[in-house]
Amino acid sequence: MKIVFTLAEIRKTVDSWRAAGERLALVPTMGCLHPGHLALMRAARRQADKVIVSIFVNPMQFGPGEDFDAYPRQFADDCRLAAEQGVAAVFNPGADEMYGPFFQTRVSVAHLSQGMCGTGRPGHFDGVATVVSKLFQLTTPHLAVFGEKDLQQLAIIRQLVRDLNFPVEIIGHPIVRDPDGLAMSSRNRYLSAEDRQRALCLYQSIGVARALVSENQQAVTASRILAAVTETLARSGVDAEYAVVVNQHSLEPEEVIGPDSVLALAARITRTVRLIDNGRLIDEE
Ligand code: PAJ
Repeated sequence: MKIVFTLAEIRKTVDSWRAAGERLALVPTMGCLHPGHLALMRAARRQADKVIVSIFVNPMQFGPGEDFDAYPRQFADDCRLAAEQGVAAVFNPGADEMYGPFFQTRVSVAHLSQGMCGTGRPGHFDGVATVVSKLFQLTTPHLAVFGEKDLQQLAIIRQLVRDLNFPVEIIGHPIVRDPDGLAMSSRNRYLSAEDRQRALCLYQSIGVARALVSENQQAVTASRILAAVTETLARSGVDAEYAVVVNQHSLEPEEVIGPDSVLALAARITRTVRLIDNGRLIDEE
């Protein structure tokens, strides 16, 4: 597996693979890889000859007072894990290499970046859209895999690709969970056993919502579901930052439950750990 630190070398690498007719996949990450990330890499491997994993803790998507400095970094372990999944190259540029001294461009997917995580993290999705645009330019993948855990991020990337005509197929991967249901996240390692137990209320809320829908899909509304969800969270002593029922593609609120309705949640579990989760309210046919 190649480990690449510079923009010049990643370009040279992907150019030679493309010239040899290889199909390329990109899996963008911020490192501290867990089984959720690894599942994305295996999915990419199934559809491409060469998988490139970027590991870049992107300063542009962290706001002031967020956990950029504290974000977990474990580069040597990450490279070993990526190699075990059959990844062809890890791309790990430094922030100066990536942005240079005079960087001033922002890519903003205006409407989809409002609301949900965009409310509590202003500017966050501009940082994501900008870095992902750069990664697409630098690695020229045929396809890229993103997790459905970051529902809003995935919707934004799909829109970005449509709007800016990136010739990249976007593949969404289902959420990978611990056996008890907690969605895997690099930030879970900061939770004490007790806080982790409380964090389970996010997944439990999705279960409560799905049970209400399966009992009576015609009659149950988003308001009724959100009341039950708020109660479930409150019982665990967790205040939701938001709890919404939205269409998974448009992210528009839905009062009547349909096949694309998703319950999306964000909650601060401790002062420093904020988690998100989501789940469809009706199973796919
Ligand atoms: P990061 O949080 O490292 O996540 C990298 C990718 O892994 C994202 O597509 C995310 O949705 C996916 N992922 C994380 N946990 C997952 C889980 N439990 N199940 C399935 N997929 C999961 O998301 C980012 O980095 C950054 O914003 C990035 C896109 C790299 C841009 O900087």
